[in-house]
Amino acid sequence: MCGIVGYTGTQNAAQVLLNGLTKLEYRGYDSAGIAVVQENSIAISKVTGRIANLRAKTEDGRLIPGLTGIGHTRWATHGAPTDQNAHPHASNDGKFAVVHNGIIENYMELREELTQKGYHFESETDTEVIVHLVEMYYTGDFKRAVMKASARLSGSYALGIVCADVPDTILVVREASPLILGVGIGENFFASDVTALVAHTRNAIYLEDGEFAALTPDAIQVYDCSGHPITKKTSRITWDIQAAEKGGYAHFMLKEIVEQPRAVEATMAPRLRNGQVVLDDLDIDLTGIRKIVITACGSAYYAGCAGKYTIEKLCRIPVTIELASELRYADPLIDEHVLLIVLSQSGETADTIAAMRECQRRGAKALAIVNVVGSTIAKNADYTLYTWAGPEIAVATTKGYTTQLTVLYLFALYAAKSLGTVSCQEYKRLLAALRALPKQMQNVLDMNPGIPKLAEKYHDTPSMFFIGRNTDYAIALEGALKMKEISYIHAESYAAGELKHGTIALIHEGQPVIALCCNEAVTEKTMNNIIEVKARGAEVLAVAFKGNQRIISLADDMIYVPKVDPLLCAVVEIVPLQLLAYHVAKENGCDIDKPKNLAKSVTVE
Ligand code: G6P
Repeated sequence: MCGIVGYTGTQNAAQVLLNGLTKLEYRGYDSAGIAVVQENSIAISKVTGRIANLRAKTEDGRLIPGLTGIGHTRWATHGAPTDQNAHPHASNDGKFAVVHNGIIENYMELREELTQKGYHFESETDTEVIVHLVEMYYTGDFKRAVMKASARLSGSYALGIVCADVPDTILVVREASPLILGVGIGENFFASDVTALVAHTRNAIYLEDGEFAALTPDAIQVYDCSGHPITKKTSRITWDIQAAEKGGYAHFMLKEIVEQPRAVEATMAPRLRNGQVVLDDLDIDLTGIRKIVITACGSAYYAGCAGKYTIEKLCRIPVTIELASELRYADPLIDEHVLLIVLSQSGETADTIAAMRECQRRGAKALAIVNVVGSTIAKNADYTLYTWAGPEIAVATTKGYTTQLTVLYLFALYAAKSLGTVSCQEYKRLLAALRALPKQMQNVLDMNPGIPKLAEKYHDTPSMFFIGRNTDYAIALEGALKMKEISYIHAESYAAGELKHGTIALIHEGQPVIALCCNEAVTEKTMNNIIEVKARGAEVLAVAFKGNQRIISLADDMIYVPKVDPLLCAVVEIVPLQLLAYHVAKENGCDIDKPKNLAKSVTVE
């Protein structure tokens, strides 16, 4: 995820910024840059690749002296990772520079407006509109110009802005993206992450949404959204660097699980405009498509398994889901009437790349749903929709999976509308349900404080079964994968109706069975399966909507999720299973972020 830092004081700003950016490297990035205010001008240096390149280019900051500056590590979202797209971005008159974390959702409209007014754009980023807006509104009052510019933005942003006319001042603005001010003596700092601050100060002011602040070497003044000065409490940062990197969580995986409501929101919100799904990057005629084939590996494959139900139900087009490692050698029945959907967090999975190439060779158009901008799959697909989950550091994916599903839901609704296979009323209802998902994911995180206790009970077992039907089954597949990946417990998922065809032979006294019962159309059936395994001694942990008394009376233990339409349920229902796997792995003392034998990105066959 992008990182931002800023400094104003008596030291060489560039050096402080470079050190701060180095502390943010762990978050993942593909380009970096700094801007330093000099006499009547702003010097900017940017590079593609590592901070080390930026150090070399600026001779460790010595080539751009100055006492105030801002810096950025970029993880590409809008536009490829290039020098041009790297931050900071400068105004046309060179008087302002900005760094930005987040996504400006209305940047296309603003870009058009500013272009018409004669501002020229050097990058493809959403960020660049901000600095041109500031220039447009500037009449000698820096703060006023920034306030006016911010009022035009929708989306999420943490901004650091400098102005050559006020060389010792940085203005920062926060809206739905973290921003922390570091309080020093004769110097002040800001950063998107405390890791960049703790080498200098442990006194911090946390900005809230809508607040902004002016930093000079001797003062920090915070303002509310209407520009009135407010007094903020200074807090003490107690985390050590390692804990700070993980946002205070014990593992990246837990941090990423908790980040999911925000990641899903970031993936979805810019694409929900004027009461409909808008997929700007998808200029596609779906009328000639007879079949959709989804291909992927690992969790991405399981995201496809769950997404298949939603697409088929809404679009009435047959969807098959194929493991990429199988599809590539299957002599597949693919032609120009097939739309291939390729799911990949990294965009670099070797089998997925090969399967995509094979299908494209046979005439299919490939739509990639990818998290890493500029990755091989993103570059070679015919259409790409990014998941905007931010970098995932834990090997076992969590937010990668849920954001892939989110894009599949968006695609299903978009395609159904353009094919006319969904009624207006149903479209509206599902859109509202989609918007509610981040909140419901948050509810799941809040309403299950008992999961660590369940992990204590269930961790000591050689095997677990995950059962469910229909969408519940698709989610069970990912739930079981999470469990085995990080806890090393053998976990198998089964379509509940298949139990009698084999697996029930393995059920014995005390055998844990995780039963997913959220798809109301089939819960009665799954409950019968619960009764069958209970009769053979299984310990059943059921996942169900709160209030389902029958399941509560049948199961030994419960995990609750809020009521969600089955077509959209996977992103919510998977969250407690991720948490269960996490806590079981923790009980078993496993290396959760780096499980043995696994790699984050499998770039070989
Ligand atoms: C590896 C990772 C999984 C991931 C799979 C596919 O196995 O450990 O978390 O789901 O690769 O990766 P992709 O980057 O293509 O989504």
